Amino acid sequence: MNLYENLNDVNEILESINKVLSRGVKDRHSDYHTFSVATSANNLINNRTVVLRDFSYEKKLLCYHTNFLSEKISELKKNNNIACLFYSKKDKVQIRINGKAHINNGNQICKEKWKTMSEQSKLCYFQNHNPGKKVANPVEVKQSANNSISKLFSIITVDIEKIDWLYLSRLGHKRVFFLKKNNFDGYWVAP
Ligand SMILES: Cc1cc2nc3c(=O)[nH]c(=O)nc-3n(C[C@H](O)[C@H](O)[C@H](O)COP(=O)(O)O)c2cc1C
Repeated sequence: MNLYENLNDVNEILESINKVLSRGVKDRHSDYHTFSVATSANNLINNRTVVLRDFSYEKKLLCYHTNFLSEKISELKKNNNIACLFYSKKDKVQIRINGKAHINNGNQICKEKWKTMSEQSKLCYFQNHNPGKKVANPVEVKQSANNSISKLFSIITVDIEKIDWLYLSRLGHKRVFFLKKNNFDGYWVAP
């Protein structure tokens, strides 16, 4: 029996969101370790997969890392509304999160996180070509280690404003909204 079948209390569902996203940060095998993030500027919409790097239940924040020169950052500079999408086939759960994105670059938050990162993760930020640049051949793109922090390393913090939790089941679908403006007091909605 699926764990969510017996969850009929919205507070327990919020707790379960905390549990799966907290685990998603640490466990690369978790379905919640990666998610899709959508940004929009100039009437165009883009989404892409990123890795969940941090989640704070208390602060209702989540984070991912990216390159300062990537398209998603230029879009966020124009429009900081962001949509995040998680889906676990195993759990039959979709979690949609909307919020405001904040770009951290070259600040204390980036410096502290950089110290904890593996050499492999750091390498992505020392590339000879900027993300999205046309190249004649993929082998032209090289990364070379450097001892200092990369100026391109950025952390996107999402200040969560809405969580839309959906569980789809033959035995009955369940959907809950948690809104910041309601202090994340959950309420059922029609799926
Ligand atoms: C499994 C997976 C994980 C990824 N994780 C990240 C990530 O954490 N940060 C990131 O910037 N790009 C990540 N990417 C690459 C992005 O999906 C995207 O291709 C890249 O960031 C360029 O996007 P943009 O041009 O919209 O900025 C990941 C891709 C995959 C397939």
